[in-house]
Amino acid sequence: VRPLRIALAGCGHVGGSLLDLLSARHAERTSRVSDTPDVHVTRILVRDASRERPALARAIGEGITSDDACITEAQHLLDGDIDVLVEAIGGTTTARVLVETALQRGIRVVTANKALLSEQGEALQTLASQHGTRIDFEGAVCGAIPIVRCVRSGAAGVGITRVSGILNGTSNYVLEQIADGLSLDAAVAAAQELGYAEADPTRDLNGQDIEDKLRVLAWLAFGIDPQTLKVTRRGLDAEIALWAAQAAAEGDRVKLIATCERDGDGFVARILPTRVRGDDAWAAVRGPFNRVVIESESAGSIAFQGPGAGGLATAGAVLADVLQ
Ligand code: NDP
Ligand code: HSE
Repeated sequence: VRPLRIALAGCGHVGGSLLDLLSARHAERTSRVSDTPDVHVTRILVRDASRERPALARAIGEGITSDDACITEAQHLLDGDIDVLVEAIGGTTTARVLVETALQRGIRVVTANKALLSEQGEALQTLASQHGTRIDFEGAVCGAIPIVRCVRSGAAGVGITRVSGILNGTSNYVLEQIADGLSLDAAVAAAQELGYAEADPTRDLNGQDIEDKLRVLAWLAFGIDPQTLKVTRRGLDAEIALWAAQAAAEGDRVKLIATCERDGDGFVARILPTRVRGDDAWAAVRGPFNRVVIESESAGSIAFQGPGAGGLATAGAVLADVLQ
């Protein structure tokens, strides 16, 4: 069986961690029978090809990729025979062109890019179907939590009536740090250092990243075009930080909770800082963890909880999509 050939866009927190997972998996496969294919990363798109990348060096050592794999011209990433494009650069410009080009050529796409999906998810899904291929995006919503495949397949419940969640690891981590006495700025800097935050952390704090994920979840749960959902939102700012510190001093927690539910023939979607009791299930969501609750006619209520951000947690979800 020939290896699966992957073009990797991005070698940052997610892309670099994917290389590490592939290297670890390669080492494991030498001593274990597996029915999943070998993976070869043919090309890696980055902005700065001269930057030292320890994950790349390890992947070359394991034969996952080669030492001339890094390129900076997006138009050459898909040259030659490619089975899967993994898009982990983020944003909606170069990423969109790459994803559309791949789908038009019948190449399977795996992406962790919720910003792109919240705008173009429906159109990209249609493009994939038209060209007999697929687009998978488990890593785009809640990192390692397998919420996308569970909602998409109906395994999370049939006849979904309500989706709610803590959908951003950075802001949850920051709120926890504030509860422990850190300043807002220091907590954000720590989240960036740990690789939880977006390239522009404003999106994590002002609720935009949560909104992107809520749109994707609403699309999967209710079938509505994600870009048409109206969302009311309030993010995390100095005033909410103060409120969170006060709540913590009184044994409670402030959490950014997103909700989308049926309302007559339409839907109501909102993202609101919410004070919860210290012994509430929402309060137990710590650090960069996320929690999603799906309410449905078939299953009542199902809760998912786990690592929602971080390169390695997300790369695991990306790898699962690649090998699917
Ligand atoms: P990083 O900023 O760590 O990495 C981005 C990578 O893409 C870098 O290697 C960068 O190159 C490259 N890149 C960015 N823009 C371009 C461009 N225009 N042309 C060529 N290369 C480019 O981001 P993350 O790994 O954190 O995130 C990647 C994606 O995954 C985003 O969509 C993000 O929302 C999503 N995601 C991230 C999670 C996380 O916890 N970090 C969790 C879930 C999803 P260079 O290295 O040279 O700068
Ligand atoms: N910046 C995002 C977060 C990454 O903190 O949740 C995961 O999508």
